[in-house]
Amino acid sequence: MAVNRDQWNSQIGFLFAAVGSAVGLGNIWRFSYMAYEHGGGAFLIPYVVALVTCGIPLLVLEFALGHERTGSAPLAFAKINRKAEFFGWWPVSFVMFGIVLYYCVIIAWCLNYCFYSLSFAWGQDPNGFFFKEFLKLPKGPLEIHGINLKILLSTAVIWFLNWLIVFRGIGKGIELANKIFMPLLFFLTLFLVFWALTLPGATDGALAYLRPNFQKISRIGVWIDAYSQIFFSLSLGFGIMIAYASYLPRKADIAKNAVMTSIMDSLFAIVAGLGVFAVLGFMANAKGLPISKVVSESIGLAFVAYPQALSIMPGGSYFGVFFFLSLVVAGLSSSISILEAFTSAVIDKFNMNRGFVVSAVCFVGFLGSAIFTTNAGLFWLDIVDHFLTHYGLVVVGIAECIIGAWVFDVERLRRHVNKTSSIKMPKVWDGIIRYFVPAILLTIVAGDLYAEIHKPYGGYSWFALAMIGINWMMFTILIAAFLTKFPWHYEYMLYTPDEDEEGQNIKE
Ligand code: PHE
Repeated sequence: MAVNRDQWNSQIGFLFAAVGSAVGLGNIWRFSYMAYEHGGGAFLIPYVVALVTCGIPLLVLEFALGHERTGSAPLAFAKINRKAEFFGWWPVSFVMFGIVLYYCVIIAWCLNYCFYSLSFAWGQDPNGFFFKEFLKLPKGPLEIHGINLKILLSTAVIWFLNWLIVFRGIGKGIELANKIFMPLLFFLTLFLVFWALTLPGATDGALAYLRPNFQKISRIGVWIDAYSQIFFSLSLGFGIMIAYASYLPRKADIAKNAVMTSIMDSLFAIVAGLGVFAVLGFMANAKGLPISKVVSESIGLAFVAYPQALSIMPGGSYFGVFFFLSLVVAGLSSSISILEAFTSAVIDKFNMNRGFVVSAVCFVGFLGSAIFTTNAGLFWLDIVDHFLTHYGLVVVGIAECIIGAWVFDVERLRRHVNKTSSIKMPKVWDGIIRYFVPAILLTIVAGDLYAEIHKPYGGYSWFALAMIGINWMMFTILIAAFLTKFPWHYEYMLYTPDEDEEGQNIKE
């Protein structure tokens, strides 16, 4: 007996969904800064090396696990060994009860800024406007004050959109949404990049971004950053790609999809970076400052530097609307992937109705987002993000390699991939998953821990870091442990006969 599982309607639908998850805010506001800081064009060397030696192999592993074991992360791992189930629950719990809560709030800020762009609501002082007027940021993370109603309401809109899409399931919801979102996002981005490149000073910006400095890439830190960026950007270690691959038909081309997803994700980041730096070049030129004085990343880039540039750009209002809209679209296609990772896990384990699960999850998610809509929200998201993405992600990545390669059988997974894929995984993939990726991830975690101990992150007090960051991480571990303890609704799901070695499905 096999449980009826949703399926993607087409391979391209799956590809768009995987790219939709991978391409997020990080591609737009993080990659370009990192490249600029780490040797410009020369950064492509560590970046591509990281992609080929870690990103693609791990993405193939996640796709293979979800597809071969036909399940969300907890089910896929439980089918390998009941003791491994926790490592499937932890990632889907920390994305659901951590990352997505503030990710939606950031998307909500972007939504507000779509409208603010129309009138340049930030006036002469975008910095003061963002931190003081819009966020009403207090002095420290422990001064929560009250909820910011405007942000809460726009966060509700984002949660509603999430609900609407994931509620409708794989084909009619997530696939359809991504078939609209991805072309829209690519079109918007290309349009903005071409526009930005026509601005005076744009070439200086582009050159600052791309001019190679090979000396910089001799530093070990640059390589570590390249690996962590790839890891985060491909949405690895979240249980997302495992869930998405579990909805593929039996004859899916796993390796090709993994390669295409990675290439599209990287190309998008590189091209979007060109636009970002063209705008920064324009601003430096207009203000008579060197580029180094205007560069910034993430929140500072989108909500401070960009508004400054928009105010002095011909047609800046429209540019702003499209730019913030592209952030909203990139964000939504990632947030729905998070919801699906958790939702599919709950459906697999408890055999509950999708509509009910998605509604409950979105409702709880919205309530959880509320803390990030308080005045201290920015501090909170900064701290929680630091702990979850630095430690959660990496630990899960290591666990995945151990469970897939050592507890299960990496050769068998490779045979499974190669059976239906047009690109064949070479034997060295086994070794990469067995030794190399865990070693890299251990190095990253060790580096992070070292930095952590030497200096409290972000200049916060130890107390605040422990109260907010460490406690939050513990909380997601507890949820995961709790969900692991429950019995499976259909115990037999764990023993579904495997495909035999000849590649025939024994039971459908
Ligand atoms: N991959 C996304 C990015 O580069 C980030 C992301 C985080 C996606 C969490 C899904 C979940 O921005």
